[in-house]
Amino acid sequence: MGPAVGQAKKPDGGPHAVDRLAALLAEDLAAVDQLIHQHMTSPVGVIPNLAAHLIDAGGKRIRPLITLAAARLLGGGGDGPRKLAAAVEFIHSATLLHDDVVDESSLRRGKKSANTIWGNSSSVLVGDFLFARSFNLMVETGDIQVLDILARAASVIAEGEVMQLAAANDAETTRERYMQIIVAKTAALFAAAAKAGAVAAGRPGAEATALETFGCELGLAFQLVDDALDYGGMAATMGKNIGDDFRDGKVTLPVVFARDAGDDGERAFWRRVVGGERTDDDFHRALALLKRHNAIALTLDAARQHAQRARDALSALPANAYREALSDLTDFVVERGY
Ligand code: IPE
Ligand code: IPE
Ligand code: MG
Ligand code: MG
Repeated sequence: MGPAVGQAKKPDGGPHAVDRLAALLAEDLAAVDQLIHQHMTSPVGVIPNLAAHLIDAGGKRIRPLITLAAARLLGGGGDGPRKLAAAVEFIHSATLLHDDVVDESSLRRGKKSANTIWGNSSSVLVGDFLFARSFNLMVETGDIQVLDILARAASVIAEGEVMQLAAANDAETTRERYMQIIVAKTAALFAAAAKAGAVAAGRPGAEATALETFGCELGLAFQLVDDALDYGGMAATMGKNIGDDFRDGKVTLPVVFARDAGDDGERAFWRRVVGGERTDDDFHRALALLKRHNAIALTLDAARQHAQRARDALSALPANAYREALSDLTDFVVERGY
């Protein structure tokens, strides 16, 4: 069994893999940031204000980094990968704005969420604006295939969020159903980010498929860890509140493990709290049950398996510094505490 969530030490004491990847792609990333800022302007003041509140709060930029690394790994140059990377971060930003409304989350990237400040309607509408701008950026690349890949991902994410909404408060949600949801809401964008990078580099065949698998598996690992952190992480490092999933009645993998291993009384507890009848003490009881059944460690084990599959997918690709950095990213994703 591995270490507790977010507790792993950096193996070499150096910067985390995501920082190393950002350093390797520093020039590209600066250009992407510029593109992002150029494309979020609008004469309607609330739009750039709200967008900047989210976008300038940082974020790990993991998805655009994947797009850039995938393209550079395969020798792709020029502006295309940068535009795509900016489009990918716009799609991510839009989904975050929408997601915080749906999840009623009040903290994002260490700041009050946009919905808390501007309200739900503005958040949804600015999310729509960012989606639309992501399509402008894709069109600028002139590549219909990447447009297809990312448009498909955007619709699949929406399907995932709707599926999740339908499963909320359903205490009988299975592991299979949960996996279906996270494939759609999270892994699809990681997969598309990686695949689109390959296609932009002019390599739409086997290499694009390998990168798509890499992205999908990495995305699954990423969401599994996110769901573990929602019970075991620290709000201060994560920049978002823990316990949101519990409060929203979401059955994530840690709950699946604890529920399925629990006795009748425990299962009745999960039925009640997932169903929506919660008191303030219930979160602590839930944490104790997750601990009793090793549910966080089991979730992290599942994440590690997907991270390993992501790493395996890279073996079909040319060995270079970008491939190495993507491989390191698979470690970061399962060790991260934020
Ligand atoms: C948050 O994604 C949404 C999930 C899929 C869990 P990130 O953890 O990549 O968010 P930022 O961009 O770094 O804030
Ligand atoms: C990821 O799920 C949502 C998106 C795909 C936008 P979460 O709801 O767990 O993400 P966080 O925890 O709010 O970042
Ligand atoms: Mg959320
Ligand atoms: Mg979460």
